[in-house]
Amino acid sequence: MTKLRQARTVAGTRILGLGSSQPERVVTNDDLAKIMDTDDQWIRDRVGIAERRFGGPADTVVSMAVDAGSKAIAAAGLSPSDVDTVIVASCTSTTPIPNAAAQVADLIGVKGAGGFDLNAACAGFCYGLAAGSDMVRAGSSRRVLVIGSEKLTDIVDPVDRSTAIIFADAAGAAVVGPSDEPGIGPVAWGTAGDLVDSITMPNGRHIYQEGQSVFRWATTKIAPIALQALELAGLEPSDVDVLVPHQANLRIVEAIAKRLRKHGAREDMVVADDIVTSGNTSSASIPMAMDHMRAAGRVHSGDVALLIGFGAGLSYAGQVVICP
Ligand code: UT7
Repeated sequence: MTKLRQARTVAGTRILGLGSSQPERVVTNDDLAKIMDTDDQWIRDRVGIAERRFGGPADTVVSMAVDAGSKAIAAAGLSPSDVDTVIVASCTSTTPIPNAAAQVADLIGVKGAGGFDLNAACAGFCYGLAAGSDMVRAGSSRRVLVIGSEKLTDIVDPVDRSTAIIFADAAGAAVVGPSDEPGIGPVAWGTAGDLVDSITMPNGRHIYQEGQSVFRWATTKIAPIALQALELAGLEPSDVDVLVPHQANLRIVEAIAKRLRKHGAREDMVVADDIVTSGNTSSASIPMAMDHMRAAGRVHSGDVALLIGFGAGLSYAGQVVICP
């Protein structure tokens, strides 16, 4: 019988470098209060955001992804030719054809790379990281650039106070490569289809969310999934140095941290709070928070980080990673 050769597998994978990108324009809560019925105190108390960045016409899903991706490759000490696959996670990419990944690969100079887009909304980066890691482990890629890039201001009604105060624009990226010691744990992922209608685009143009039901779901269901990701990696809550949940709402982030501490996570566990200055940037929020915390000296190489993304679908995905 004909016997096919399989790609050579590798023992483990890890994140080799991180990068992020944000538009120049800072928008404060007071700026928003000038155009809608809201105020700084409400936004800080209910969501935890002080300011965020909004892109202009030149800032696109592709341009921000190129910037974040190039920085991640440089941070990994690599050049574009060392990357052979590009994954762009986005729910705000403006063109299905051509896909963002092929454009990003070409603009970064990752010539001839494999490239595809994926959409798992705010969980997209963790889905992409799982896919990229499994591709390297299975031998179908050597180094994968995983990017979450979003221009949410394209799909937000600019005067709708229930969404315009939350969402913002950015990209975050990670280079995944082979490693003798595993540095990316198995993914815990899934969907809650019973809540499919809780984040939608009813008029085809603008995002709508049933804030309270998503809030309840996120504060009750996400911590158990994070615990499952830890178990899959063979770790205990006390092993976590850094918790990086999707930056949807600071109260959700704090609720997840509280639940994990009840299960043994340490009081000195660093908890990402990038939402305060970046807003909710969907699939960009987790890699960007990690990159910002690394730059600020809040996380260090070798730290154990627990990532957990969640959003429209409702979709979720989480895994443990060792910080580069
Ligand atoms: O990233 C994807 C996943 N998404 C999430 O995880 C989002 C989860 N949900 C949330 O984060 C929160 O539900 C929101 C931030 C969206 C809303 O916060 P909330 O504490 O659930 O507020 P609410 O919708 O229950 O509104 C409370 C009150 C209402 O007024 P009344 O009816 O009590 O008089 C709203 O009309 O606050 C009012 N309100 C506002 N007031 C000032 C709603 N938005 C605003 C606003 N400024 N921007």
